[in-house]
Amino acid sequence: MTETHCFPVRSEGDRPSSGRACLRDVSRYAADPTIARIDLSDNTNLWGMPPAASAALWRAGATTITRYPQPYSERLKEVLADYVGVSAELIATGCGSDDILDSAFRAFAEPGERIAFPDPTFTMVPTFARVNGLTPVAVPLTDPYGVDVDALLAADARIIYLCSPNNPTGGALCRDAIEAVIAGARSDQLVIVDEAYAEFAGTSVVGLIAQSDRLLVTRTLSKAFGLAGLRIGYAIGDPALITEVEKARGPYKVNSLAERAGLAAVTEGLPWVREHVALAIAARSRLTRELTERGLEPAESAANFVFLPLACGSAIARRMRSRGVAVRALENLTPVSEALRASKGSALRFTVGPWELVTEALSALDEARQSCG
Ligand SMILES: Cc1ncc(COP(=O)(O)O)c(C=O)c1O
Repeated sequence: MTETHCFPVRSEGDRPSSGRACLRDVSRYAADPTIARIDLSDNTNLWGMPPAASAALWRAGATTITRYPQPYSERLKEVLADYVGVSAELIATGCGSDDILDSAFRAFAEPGERIAFPDPTFTMVPTFARVNGLTPVAVPLTDPYGVDVDALLAADARIIYLCSPNNPTGGALCRDAIEAVIAGARSDQLVIVDEAYAEFAGTSVVGLIAQSDRLLVTRTLSKAFGLAGLRIGYAIGDPALITEVEKARGPYKVNSLAERAGLAAVTEGLPWVREHVALAIAARSRLTRELTERGLEPAESAANFVFLPLACGSAIARRMRSRGVAVRALENLTPVSEALRASKGSALRFTVGPWELVTEALSALDEARQSCG
């Protein structure tokens, strides 16, 4: 007997399991699941976290967990505001700055609109764009590693994303260029400056927020503050922008334990953070020098990682990994420097940390380069 359905019969492609059309070109984030003895691949704080933050986690009692956190982390916003030097109404928090970027894309651009960003930059940007139905427009960096202000402004994008220091290339963007993008943006365009690594650069454009209600700066406690596993990010911008980001983000995104540890890290933990940022900066100079002495061409970094254009990067990274050392391999990068042209768009990115770890990574690199010819 033929069954009659009283609901519309959908074609194969319309089944709920196939997801929205905008997800068709999106893959799940693929991280290597094996644990490396020395992991210099993700730009986290390899010295750990401020002892004040771990003490706050140990002190957190059962009620911290059985009840909901504050919907928009009001207490955490206050201490972040003090740290950045603005008032709390200019801050939104999120489950990592990933969450803030995703929410901001959803809040300010309609599906079908464009988001322009320098290329190469943070790989999640085109992904969050697609997930939100936006069209990613990659604008190559100028040679070497600079911002193409005119091309970004000409991209007819609703959102212009900049990252300073830029991941993966490591350099801080020229402040004049950032200011030119903000000044040249139309009144209906949002400019996002991702400052995930600002602590290591010692520079920030947060001060420009007072002059522009179209600038949103994003930050994180995953890098200098050592709390990547707790997932805490934040945005700084005009209160009207902050409200839209919070609406798109939804309540309760920063969990209670993260809130406790974040509060401690940004208050009592600050001396520890500053001390370890200084160590990271020293390690970054030393690693850059070591690589240069080997005849290689690392890019100048203002972050806690060093970008090294290098032919056969993936093969070299695989050999390093077999010695227990993980670094990030990048392939097919747009050749925006002489060194990247020579390496055919292949590069490695090394997170800096305690020098013993970096030394092991250098030995693994030397050995891998020999065996890769
Ligand atoms: C430039 C940049 N922005 C944002 C993030 C996301 O950081 P989180 O979501 O941990 O705050 C990262 C992480 O590597 C990054 O490199």
